[in-house]
Amino acid sequence: MSTTAQIGVTGLAVMGRNLARNFARNGYAVALHNRTPARTRELVEEFGQEGTFVPTESAEEFVAALERPRRLVVMVKAGDPTDAVISEFAPLLEDGDVIIDGGNAHFADTRRREQELRERGIHFVGTGISGGEEGALHGPSIMPGGSKESYASLGPMLERIAAQADDGAPCVTHVGADGAGHFVKMVHNGIEYADMQLIGEAYQLLRDVGGYSPDEIAGIFRAWNTGRLDSYLIEITAEVLSHVDAATGRPFVDVVADRAEQKGTGRWTVQLALELGVPVSGIAEAVFARSLSGHTALREASAQLAGPTPQALGPTEAATFADRVEQALYASKIVSYTQGFHEIAAGSAQYDWNLDLGAIASIWRGGCIIRAAFLDRIRAAYDSRPDLPSLLADAEFAEEIAEAQDDWRAVLVAATEQGVPAPGFAAALSYYDALRADRLPAALTQGQRDFFGAHTYRRTDRDGTFHTLWGGDRTEVEA
Ligand code: 6PG
Repeated sequence: MSTTAQIGVTGLAVMGRNLARNFARNGYAVALHNRTPARTRELVEEFGQEGTFVPTESAEEFVAALERPRRLVVMVKAGDPTDAVISEFAPLLEDGDVIIDGGNAHFADTRRREQELRERGIHFVGTGISGGEEGALHGPSIMPGGSKESYASLGPMLERIAAQADDGAPCVTHVGADGAGHFVKMVHNGIEYADMQLIGEAYQLLRDVGGYSPDEIAGIFRAWNTGRLDSYLIEITAEVLSHVDAATGRPFVDVVADRAEQKGTGRWTVQLALELGVPVSGIAEAVFARSLSGHTALREASAQLAGPTPQALGPTEAATFADRVEQALYASKIVSYTQGFHEIAAGSAQYDWNLDLGAIASIWRGGCIIRAAFLDRIRAAYDSRPDLPSLLADAEFAEEIAEAQDDWRAVLVAATEQGVPAPGFAAALSYYDALRADRLPAALTQGQRDFFGAHTYRRTDRDGTFHTLWGGDRTEVEA
């Protein structure tokens, strides 16, 4: 086999296949490999005319087909299959070659793999790729980690195949060292869960309180999509809501089982946030809402519990209510992104990644599932003030929330009175109110901890650590 390919893709299920085609369509010669060679042959038969493919049937043949430094993209299921592929290929590689893992790996695994391979002279680039199968083919948002050196060799190719934002900038950047790319992709997915949950709550409120049909709600979402909520998820929500089930003639959304599944990246975001001590309550509520929806037996056993049955508003009030829901959705969305970016900043500090939050917002403007007009404003906020302590500290976002908050509160009052669950909206508003509170009940928590466990507390009026002798005469001693 002659050395002809500039990049190789192993693992040709739909994401790998589409990524390989994307490279080929952009003028790169692409070596192909798959555990079962039939898939490789199928790709070449079906799409061979799109560019230059070099089909190979063994690991040795695949590696030999690549120009040096070799660039191998691994597109297999995250977890053990990734380790198996690395063990198969690494012994065949040489100093300076690059293995790129494009799966949804846990960033801690990526850190481990990067270190092990670095010791063997091989670059390991864990990269987030967002945009689903269409994105992989037409331009995803790409979040590569790994060494700067590996980006120098790989970056220009990724810039060619990535989505472009409206200003023409490619949606890819060197995110940071070792696991930074997969970390950022994980938080992207956590935000994706929160966005989807908030949209779901808006839908439910429009349906139960607004009294709108799914098709009417699709129209409302389409209108919102022309404004500040303009985003891929709002756009596809309108498509899903207006779809009619062919078998029954009913709205599709009414015939789908209401049990949301998850592959785990949202859960990872929350698990890590707990470890980093970052409150991501909106993302957590989204993960919990999916989990609650799947507890069928628990839901059946609870179906008779007392509570109001929502009463739909009349048409004029419903229109006003819909405008309020838009405000609540937008304000809650700002909070979700605030929390997500806080987690990214905390991860950056913890792992010494020196992440550029503005650049991350920038590469999420196109290609990825959470792409939205709004991200350009987040980019601008961080670009003008890279040390912004929180998105809510940005004057424009703070002002928008200030304007939205009466409606946001009114929507939650309606949800509570009518018994419609809105955990995402509520968590976002509580986070906002907690941040702006003068005093929090944490003071009482400290008192309780000191009472039952002598855990000590600090005072507002002088330095030091104190304990009250609760079981004795309640004098205060310095601890
Ligand atoms: C993306 C998506 C993608 C995928 C997730 C979500 O950015 O392209 O996030 O990674 O759809 O796997 O899956 P779950 O909802 O099943 O967790």
